[in-house]
Amino acid sequence: MAKRVAILTGGGDCPGLNAVIRAATRKLVRAGHEMVGVRHGWRGLLENEYMPLDIESTADILAQGGTILRTSRTNPMKQEGGVELLVDNLRQNDIWATIAIGGDDTLGVANKLFGEYALNMVGVPKTIDNDLSGTDYTFGFDTAVQIATECIDRLNTTAESHDRTIVVEIMGRHTGWITVMAGIAGGADVVMLPEFDISVAEVCDILKRQRQGGKNFNIVAVSEGAKLVTREGEEKMVVQSVEVDAFGNVKLGGVANLLAKEIERRTGFETRATVLGHIQRGGTPTAHDRILATRYGVKAAEMVQTGQWGQMAALQGDEIVAVPLEMAVGERKLVRPEFWELARTFFA
Ligand code: F6P
Repeated sequence: MAKRVAILTGGGDCPGLNAVIRAATRKLVRAGHEMVGVRHGWRGLLENEYMPLDIESTADILAQGGTILRTSRTNPMKQEGGVELLVDNLRQNDIWATIAIGGDDTLGVANKLFGEYALNMVGVPKTIDNDLSGTDYTFGFDTAVQIATECIDRLNTTAESHDRTIVVEIMGRHTGWITVMAGIAGGADVVMLPEFDISVAEVCDILKRQRQGGKNFNIVAVSEGAKLVTREGEEKMVVQSVEVDAFGNVKLGGVANLLAKEIERRTGFETRATVLGHIQRGGTPTAHDRILATRYGVKAAEMVQTGQWGQMAALQGDEIVAVPLEMAVGERKLVRPEFWELARTFFA
């Protein structure tokens, strides 16, 4: 029987969101269901902000970055009466099932709505950070790594021309996945990640050794969430603002500037800082992400058709499977030590 299915995108945007929307819509519409896009993530379900989705409205969006549905970091659990309103709106609008595309925050809400309110929820793992468990990779990550790598390549040439050290700050709130992969792919001299400790003194020693070995410039790739260890026993995470969003996240940013000053002071090498920021989330997805996002979208549609509620489409090996949302939002997926060791091989 034809049913109405909603789809929403929550949290930070990421390349590939539109590819998921397109794939899920086309699969479900062709199966006879009605698709409705919820605008601005969970906020749209609180404020009844919808847009119809069909074959035409999802044409020509596969390669488009961002999300045609828009997004927000709204947490209905944090608003008084928020969940009750959301449940009521779903009922009033005759929405039978919801596909939530998001990271740990968005999917955490979907998991609670499924577990505590028995709502028909299906998840799709999105984040450039690649820190969701239950899946080998989230879509958007490959594009972010590609962009960060290209930036490192560009920084290499200018750093070399000026005999400089350049510190490049890369996104990743809790994990250093983008930093370690782009660092390896771009041949960074040192990478600094939230998961593994390396002090500023050690970084400076590595840079000095590299200069003594004949290199005239350096690239240091630092994760925005990396802790700065300036003195023994003293470490700090650099934040732009301690204000938290509805999910309790602080705004990170600024570690590269502090680190660059510290490196210049300790080594005497002229040092600059570059913050890649939201460039890593913008623009068209790579072919890899378009394919992964399309596979996730089709799988999510199939999960709706077969009633696999409380589950998330996931990549395991080369298979797209369904895993419990619980698993995805439980423990954060950290950078595996083997990648840290691989990067360290080139610290010299
Ligand atoms: O979670 C994805 C992410 O891009 C993080 O890497 C980053 O810390 C955060 O979002 C930035 O959030 P905002 O877009 O709200 O500044």
